[in-house]
Amino acid sequence: MDSIVVTGNGPLHGQIPIAGAKNACLTLMPATLLSEEPLTLTNAPRLSDIRTMTSLLQSLGAEVQSLQDGQVLAMSSHDIHNHTADYDIVRKMRASILVLGPMLARDGHAVVSLPGGCAIGARPVDLHLRALEAMGAELDLRDGYVHAKAPSGGLRGGVVEFPLVSVGATENALMAATLARGTTILKRAAREPEIVDLADCLRKMGAQIEGDGTDTITVQGVDRLGGATHRVVTDRIELGTYMLAPAICGGEVELLGGRIDLVGAFCEKLDAVGISVAETENGLTVARKNGQIRAVDVTTEPFPGFPTDLQAQMMALLCTAEGTSVLEEKIFENRFMHAPELMRMGARIDVHGGHATVTGVDRLRGAPVMATDLRASVSLILAGLAAEGETVVNRVYHLDRGYEHVVRKLSGVGAKIERIKGQ
Ligand code: UD1
Repeated sequence: MDSIVVTGNGPLHGQIPIAGAKNACLTLMPATLLSEEPLTLTNAPRLSDIRTMTSLLQSLGAEVQSLQDGQVLAMSSHDIHNHTADYDIVRKMRASILVLGPMLARDGHAVVSLPGGCAIGARPVDLHLRALEAMGAELDLRDGYVHAKAPSGGLRGGVVEFPLVSVGATENALMAATLARGTTILKRAAREPEIVDLADCLRKMGAQIEGDGTDTITVQGVDRLGGATHRVVTDRIELGTYMLAPAICGGEVELLGGRIDLVGAFCEKLDAVGISVAETENGLTVARKNGQIRAVDVTTEPFPGFPTDLQAQMMALLCTAEGTSVLEEKIFENRFMHAPELMRMGARIDVHGGHATVTGVDRLRGAPVMATDLRASVSLILAGLAAEGETVVNRVYHLDRGYEHVVRKLSGVGAKIERIKGQ
């Protein structure tokens, strides 16, 4: 297995290009199943999760061509001959459940494996299923699979009131509702930029959607959707992650394609700890205001709150802040697995339930550490950039799921980082 070796090397200077959003792309790709006409995505990120979704769609009969070095995905679903999403693919990636709504809406039936466990908590799919039931779907859970059928005449509009905010369940319901008969109202819908991006793409395909970006989305079902070409929105998590690199190491870095509106709550916390963020013609620049980083408390929340997907990276920054910070994780249980790894590097962290108390130390020290999930792995790289000596991050396949060219991007701004091929 490959590992990444990082050696603390002082301030960073230069530019980092930010890719299209993994999480947007993973919901835009299944949208191809809603139409017989081609759907083309541009600005797609080159990631293993995208390859997994490609395999899943191909297993159903969709054509997916990866063009321009993977940045363009040309898809066509005119011949969906298999309606079963197999466990072997679904277990690799939870977002596979997003094929359920579109297949059911277009063809009236679908069988999708339950995703199973995940390192950052139980992560059930009950909200996805309840939303489809509210549109008339009949669901049968057996042998680890969801067997879903639409009533004769297809799904019908309904009112879906989510008991808690779920990005994936909102996406599944939104896609299904585009082809349901009548009006669907999604209440307590997720407001993430990836939802707005999905709605934008679906509108280009002919869907009638209003209210995306607010907590109530209204969808007027149409008989069929057409093709479209759509540019995937900037990855706000990759953006936030690389914004933390100059915050941790000093220096000044410009994030090409960065937008403040994608990372508002995160920028407020950066400001509070002593990091300045400014808009430029091509994105955002980030620099330390003056010397020391101050502690700050952080609570993760659905958008527009502080994203759970930036919590691990923020913790890496706070490990060397002056004072004590409390991080509260409100989205996923068990999402502090990076804490013991950061402690191997000399961080002072006390995890108690959904809270982690981080007391800043003067300096982290390099150590061999293990990536436990996608965001945890990049937090260890960030910590390694600030540490004295060498940090070896093992199990970096997690990283490949969500960060393209991480070594190239960070070495391009002066970081000392290399990937070592495993046996
Ligand atoms: C998406 C993102 C993920 C991010 C998360 C929260 C993708 C591919 N992944 O994941 O990176 O961390 O949003 O911003 O877009 N829940 C249920 N029942 C359900 C669904 C969710 O109880 O049916 C719970 C989850 O366990 C979690 C909370 O709802 O506690 C929010 O999860 P959700 O927003 O659904 O996350 P994902 O869509 O899986």
